[in-house]
Amino acid sequence: MWGMHHHRPRPRCPTVRPRYDHLTDLGTPNRICDQKRSLDWPGVKGARVFNLDGRVALVTGAGQNVGAGIARLLAGQGAAIAVNDLRPDRATHTVERITADGGRAVAVGFDVTDHEQVTRGVAQAELALGPVDILVNNAGSGGAEELVPMSFRDTDPASWRGPIDVNLFGVLHCCRAVINGMEDRGWGRIITISSGAAVTGLDFGVSTYAAGKGGAISFMRHLAVESASKGVTANTLAIGLMGNPDPEITAFLARRIPVGRTGEPDDVGHACVYLASNEAAWMTGQTIQINGGSNTT
Ligand SMILES: NC(=O)c1ccc[n+]([C@@H]2O[C@H](COP(=O)([O-])OP(=O)(O)OC[C@H]3O[C@@H](n4cnc5c(N)ncnc54)[C@H](O)[C@@H]3O)[C@@H](O)[C@H]2O)c1
Repeated sequence: MWGMHHHRPRPRCPTVRPRYDHLTDLGTPNRICDQKRSLDWPGVKGARVFNLDGRVALVTGAGQNVGAGIARLLAGQGAAIAVNDLRPDRATHTVERITADGGRAVAVGFDVTDHEQVTRGVAQAELALGPVDILVNNAGSGGAEELVPMSFRDTDPASWRGPIDVNLFGVLHCCRAVINGMEDRGWGRIITISSGAAVTGLDFGVSTYAAGKGGAISFMRHLAVESASKGVTANTLAIGLMGNPDPEITAFLARRIPVGRTGEPDDVGHACVYLASNEAAWMTGQTIQINGGSNTT
C-alpha cells in the first residue's frame, strides 16, 4: 500500500488501533513510528483502512441478503447509504438496522428497470444525502418473476425480457443517473454484482439470466474505460453460490465449493468496501470472481 496518495489525513503516532494492542505490549509501536521511511513506507498504523467517511452510496436491491450486507458494511466504514429496493418495506428494514447501529441511511423505493423511476429515485436520494459517490448495482434476479431454472430449448420467448431488464437495463439506468455527476465531480465508484453464471457455461437452466448478467459485465468494461480519466472506476463482482434459506440446499451447494461453504453477504460486502475506497483508484474495468474457488481463472 505504499506510494499511494491519501486524500484524507492519517492519524499520527501514537494513535494505536486496538488490533495492534499486542504490539504495545511488546513495546514496538515506537520502533514502528520511528522507522525510516526510505521506501515511502507509510507505517503499519494509520487511518481506518478503506475509510468511507463523507461518501454517499446508493445500493440497489438492498432490502435483503447480499444487498443488505453490502449496505451494512459500507455504512460501517462511514458512508451514508441510500437503500433502494423494489419493495419499500424491505428497504425500510435495512435502513432501520443501519441506523440502529449508528449509521446513516435513507430508503428509496424504486424499480431499477424503469428509467423514470430511477431518475426520480436518485434525485430523491441526493436531496436527502448529497451526490451519489458510490453506486452498487446489486438488484437482480430472474426478473419480474423469480428465476425458474429451465433449459433454453424449453423457454417461452416471453420469459426472456425479464432477466435482461433487471440484470442489464437496471444497471444501465442506474449508471446513467449517476455517471455525469461523478465525472463532473472527478470521483466515483461503480460496482455491479454479476454472477459466475455470466463467465462460465452451466447446466443449471439459467442461460437468459446469464445473458443479462454477462451483458452487464461487458457494459461495465466500456464504462470503466470511458470514465477512467475522470476519477471514476467501474468494476464487476461475479459472485458464486450464496446460502439458501433451506439449510439442506445450502449444504448440498457447499459440497460443490472448494472452500467448503456457500457465500455470505459479507463476503461480497467486504470486496465492495475495497472497491469503493480511495485505495482502489487503480482498479477499474475488472470482473472479479468471488466464489470460494468454484471457478478459477
Ligand atoms: N444468491 C445467489 O446465489 C447469487 C449468485 C450469483 C449472483 N447473485 C446476484 O447477487 C445479487 C443479489 O442476490 P440476492 O441473492 O441477495 O437476491 P435477493 O433476491 O435475495 O434480493 C434482491 C433484492 O433486490 C430487489 N429487487 C428485485 N428486482 C428489483 C428491481 N427491479 N428494482 C429494485 N429492486 C429489486 C428484491 O426486492 C430483493 O430485495 C443479484 O444481482 C443476484 O443476481 C446472487
